[in-house]
Amino acid sequence: MKRHLQNHNHSKNETLSPFKDHIKLRREGRAASKRMREIGRQCIMGQMEALKRGEKLDNNILSHILQSAVPAGDSNVIDLELMIDHCVTFFLAGQETTACLMASTLLELGRHPEIVYKMKTEVDAVLGDDGYVSFEDLSKLKYTTAVLKETLRFHSPVPIVLRKTPKEVVWNGIKLPANTSIIICIVNLARQKEYFESPEEFMPSRFLGGDNHNNMYIPFSLGPRKCIGKQFAMIEAQVAMAKLMKNFTFDLVPGQSFDCVASVTCKPKDSCRVYVKPAAPRSDIIPNV
Ligand code: HEM
Repeated sequence: MKRHLQNHNHSKNETLSPFKDHIKLRREGRAASKRMREIGRQCIMGQMEALKRGEKLDNNILSHILQSAVPAGDSNVIDLELMIDHCVTFFLAGQETTACLMASTLLELGRHPEIVYKMKTEVDAVLGDDGYVSFEDLSKLKYTTAVLKETLRFHSPVPIVLRKTPKEVVWNGIKLPANTSIIICIVNLARQKEYFESPEEFMPSRFLGGDNHNNMYIPFSLGPRKCIGKQFAMIEAQVAMAKLMKNFTFDLVPGQSFDCVASVTCKPKDSCRVYVKPAAPRSDIIPNV
């Protein structure tokens, strides 16, 4: 994980423009990074104190990292800075990306009532009256999962990943010298018409027949540095989306854009503004269905 952060710092020095316009950006970036680390430090120290007092920690990622690193709650045995790296990386990599996925999904649902109808039918059938989402339910939420996958294709929260060739590589007849920086554009790959029927359409049904897209669909990247939170993110989004569908109806606030802006993650340009009401019966979602 530390390597991950160091890699990012390294590429930041190489790629950020030295021009005046970017001084403010760099200053803000440094301040934000310092603040994130401070918050991480406070969270960790708070949990360490609780461990020392013999308290049982909440069931979350941080408490698992801490308990596996310091079972006895002895703060002397941990590398605090490394622990902060873990904490901040998980927070940044996990929170913003999943939030983008949820926001973009709600936006798409807002303009596709027929998809909302299918999702709600599935969610009502799988969850039943109590609305509890069990682990077994997740594999039954096939259409809901297809909607999330289609959002990841159409509005990939991570638009690009960066790699460097460790040695000379010949790819498709093109010679790439060692140390060449490569940008892999996840969003463009996912819109290639050779691999995706009507790629410019939001069409969750394309994911009902399996993921046979020849590695063109890589919202979580590929290889040894692919997303380690992939399963966690999908479970989180499935549970949240099923619960939202079960309990609420959403209407888009009119006049918002469906464009996205890319700044590290790719997020809806006008965020995602919706009116929330208690869930309506399915027959109210599309008249005469
Ligand atoms: C929809 C949600 C998510 C998307 C689309 C996503 C996407 C990605 C991508 C594309 C990468 C690879 C970056 C690269 O190759 O440079 C990555 C890395 C990573 N992700 Fe996620 N991610 C998501 C959620 C999460 C969650 C929930 C967590 C943690 C709980 C997480 C933790 C990480 C970490 C730690 C890495 C770095 C792995 C490494 O460098 O070895 N991600 N993510």
